[in-house]
Amino acid sequence: MLYRALRPLLFRMDAEGAHQLVARQMEALQEIPLALRLIAAWCRPPAAARRHLLGLTFPSPVGIAAGFDKDARMIPMLAALGFGFVEVGTVTPRPQAGNPPPRLFRDPPHRALINRLGFNNEGAGAVAERLLRWRASGAALFSPPPPLFVNIGKNRDTPLEDAAADYAECYRRLAPHADAVVLNLSSPNTPGLRDLQRPEQLEKLMGSLEKRGPLLVKIDPDLDDSQIAEVCKVCVRLADGMVCTNTTLDRPPGLAESGGLSGAPLMRKSTEVLRKVRQRVGPGYPLVGVGGIFTPEDVREKLAAGADLVQVYTGFVYEGPALPRRLSRAVTP
Ligand code: FNR
Repeated sequence: MLYRALRPLLFRMDAEGAHQLVARQMEALQEIPLALRLIAAWCRPPAAARRHLLGLTFPSPVGIAAGFDKDARMIPMLAALGFGFVEVGTVTPRPQAGNPPPRLFRDPPHRALINRLGFNNEGAGAVAERLLRWRASGAALFSPPPPLFVNIGKNRDTPLEDAAADYAECYRRLAPHADAVVLNLSSPNTPGLRDLQRPEQLEKLMGSLEKRGPLLVKIDPDLDDSQIAEVCKVCVRLADGMVCTNTTLDRPPGLAESGGLSGAPLMRKSTEVLRKVRQRVGPGYPLVGVGGIFTPEDVREKLAAGADLVQVYTGFVYEGPALPRRLSRAVTP
């Protein structure tokens, strides 16, 4: 209810400015132990929402998708709000500023966002330190603590033929502090990145990692059926799971900004890709469904299409901080 009152004010601000304001408030609040405990107690997922996957225990199958907390600054608050796992990133080896603003846009009539942020982040070194801190002290407040996924990518100025080295470096620095690593090969905002989903590129990339712990691949929703078949074939052999999907290059009529589209208009497309991936990889292969989730019905649809876990981003922006609590209460058997 409080968010319903605040949202019009936030939505009057420029979208990235509003995100930064909310992020600062979350960071400040999580420094107050009593506040964090109270929020965690109110939002704790019911025991029946618990899931076991990838050798990990998830308090709930509803996680926060990559891109909300690119620099791993808000993990305690995201955990306290009841997310069953937290994916930070995309992190690149070196810090980078991303594309020039404005680069994040709301489309309330469609309940959508368009972003062309371009992997603005503080780099692997800064993020590794924060993950270490979370591991050392922050996670102790939660039992079980939500698993931590780290999403990695390449710097924009790294030529595509050297991409494997960027992923290997991020992996080497961040995997020791994460429960799982997600290779982002699907953002539309880094030129050429999506080409890394091609089988020969994907094999080269995964071959360059000294693997430790679960490894997932995040794919884009604009792949055609034969590309889906190819990427699945490699993933089943070399990765432990897949995240379906990133943002789309499709546009509902009337939206001109370039970048990746997320939110309600992505639901059907990303769920279709998820369903096709499930058919290809067969039962038992871990899949995370993401794209367009706002309601418990949306979660159920992703689970029915083959997801073991789900994630939200745009729904969280539109529905507010009570969303993870609401969704995790709705996924109990
Ligand atoms: C994203 N997303 C994203 N994904 C990723 O792998 N790395 C990233 O850095 C980002 N950054 C990012 C920024 C913003 C502003 C948005 C809206 C999204 C994609 C995100 O994780 C998710 O896959 C899509 O947004 C689809 O889910 P929703 O938003 O429809 O729930």
